[in-house]
Amino acid sequence: MVIKKVGVLGCGLMGSGIAQVSAGAGYSTVVKEIADDFLKKGLSSIEKSLGKFVEKGTITRDQRAETLGRLKGTTKFEDLGDCYIVIEAITENLQLKRETYATIDKIVKPLAIFASNTSSLAITEMMTATKRVDRFIGMHFFNPVPLMKLVEVVGTITTSKEILDEAMKFAASLGKVPIRTSDRSGFVVNRLLVPYLLDAIRALEEGVGSVEDIDRGMRLGCGYPMGPFTLLDFVGLETTYYIANIMFEEFREKRFARPRCSNVLCWPVITEKKPAVDFTTTRTPPIRNRCIKL
Ligand code: 3HC
Repeated sequence: MVIKKVGVLGCGLMGSGIAQVSAGAGYSTVVKEIADDFLKKGLSSIEKSLGKFVEKGTITRDQRAETLGRLKGTTKFEDLGDCYIVIEAITENLQLKRETYATIDKIVKPLAIFASNTSSLAITEMMTATKRVDRFIGMHFFNPVPLMKLVEVVGTITTSKEILDEAMKFAASLGKVPIRTSDRSGFVVNRLLVPYLLDAIRALEEGVGSVEDIDRGMRLGCGYPMGPFTLLDFVGLETTYYIANIMFEEFREKRFARPRCSNVLCWPVITEKKPAVDFTTTRTPPIRNRCIKL
C-alpha cells in the first residue's frame, strides 16, 4: 500500500507534533480536533516549531510553506475518510478512545491502518472497538515529536506482519527510527523510564538528594539531557501519574507504584477530572515550586 494521505486525531502536544512531521515528510495530512480553538492552538504551535527550524537553517522558508500547505485542520471525522493511516493522539482515556475508534471505523476506508499514540493503554482493548483487527497498531512518538527520533511500533496478536512492516517503513519515512515492541503496558521506553522517574521522587522523599542535586547527578553523572525532575515537569506530572497507575494495574509491581509523597505534591485525582482532562492545558505548577518543604 502506498500511503498518500495521513490523518491525525488530536492536535495537542503530541498530535500537533505528529501532524507536523507527517506534513514535513511530504504527506498530505489532515489533523482533527474537537473544537476550533484547540485546532487553532495546535496549528499555531506547528507554525512556531517550523519557524524555529527556519531560524536554525534546518529547513528553508519554502519548505516551511510547503509543509503548511500539505496540512489541513478540521473538526469533522468525515475529513479522515480517505486517509491511508490514521494516527490517534487524543486524551488517554480508554472509553473515549474506544468510542472514537468505533466512529472512525465506519468512516475511514477499510484498508487504512489505525495507529494509537497511547503511552500505556492496551492497543488490544482499543482494537476491539473496530473491525480492522489485523490493521490496528500502536505508534508511540516521543516529546518533542519534531526532535525526538524514536517511534515504538506496537503489534498485537492479530496485527498482520504486512501492516507492521508497512508501519516500520512509514515511521522511517517520517525521518524517525522505529523499534518493534509488543502490546505490554509502557512498551519499551516507559517500562524503563517510569520506574526511574518514580524512583527520583522516592529518592527525594528519603532525603537522598535535593531536586537540583538529583537532576544534576543524572545529567552530569550519566549524560542524560535532562534530570528526572526536569523531565517530570516536561512530560507532566499528571501524565506520569496516569501512566504509572496503568502500569501498576497491569504488572502489580512496586516499581510502578506511585511514591508516598505524590499526594504531598498535590497530584490531582485524575478520575475526578474525567472525561475532559487535557494534560496539555491543566498542568500543575512545576515540581520545583512544590518541593520546597521536602
Ligand atoms: N520544534 C522545534 N524546535 C524545538 C522544539 C520543537 N518542538 N522544541 C525545542 N526546540 C528547539 C529549541 O528551541 C532549541 O533551539 P535553540 O538551540 O535555537 O535554542 C533546541 O531545540 C534545543 O532545545 P533546548 O536548548 O531548549 O534544550 P536541549 O538542547 O536540551 O534540547 C530536548 C531539548 C531535545 C528536549 C532535550 O532536552 C532532550 O532530549 N530532553 C529529553 C526529552 C525526553 O526525554 N523526551 C521523552 C519524554 S518521554 C515521552 O515523550 C513518552 C511519553 O509517553 C511520556
